[in-house]
Amino acid sequence: MSRVLVLNGVNLGRLGSREPLVYGTTTHAELADTCIATGREVGLAVEVRQTDDEAELVAWLHEAADDGVPVVLNSAAWSHYSYALRDACAQLTAPLVEVHLSQTHAREEFRHTSVVSPVATATITGLGIEGYRAALRFLASSTGKPSTP
Ligand code: DQA
Repeated sequence: MSRVLVLNGVNLGRLGSREPLVYGTTTHAELADTCIATGREVGLAVEVRQTDDEAELVAWLHEAADDGVPVVLNSAAWSHYSYALRDACAQLTAPLVEVHLSQTHAREEFRHTSVVSPVATATITGLGIEGYRAALRFLASSTGKPSTP
C-alpha cells in the first residue's frame, strides 16, 4: 500500500477547542482517525503527525522528500511567512497537497498569501476536514502520475 504523510503544523493540536466557529469542533485525534479511515477506503497507508515546532516539521518534510512520499500539509500560520518551510516543500519528490480548514482568502489579509502554494501540486481551502479527505482521494488517484499538469 502506498504511504502518505499528513502533516499538521502549529496550533492544530488544539482543534476541537480552538476557535470552534472558525475551525469546527473536530479534535486533532478525530481528524487523524478520519484521515486514516479515508486512506483505508482508497488504498493508502496514512500517517498523521502534528507539531508546534517548525524544525520538526521541516525534518518530516526532508524525510518525505528522501522517501518519495506524497504529503498532505496544513502548515497553519507558518504557511503565511516561513520561507524555510517553503524551501523544504520545494524539495519534495512526490505530490504535495496544501490544505487549510478555513477559507483563508475570506479572512484577514495576512492569511491571503501562502508561501507554500507556489510549490504545492494543489491547494484546498475552506472545506474543513473534508479538504483532507479530498486531498487523500486525489493522491490515491494520482499515485504514479506526474505531480505537475
Ligand atoms: C489554517 C489557516 C491559518 O491561517 C491559521 O493560521 C491556522 C489554520 C486553516 O487550517 O484554516 O492555524 O491553516
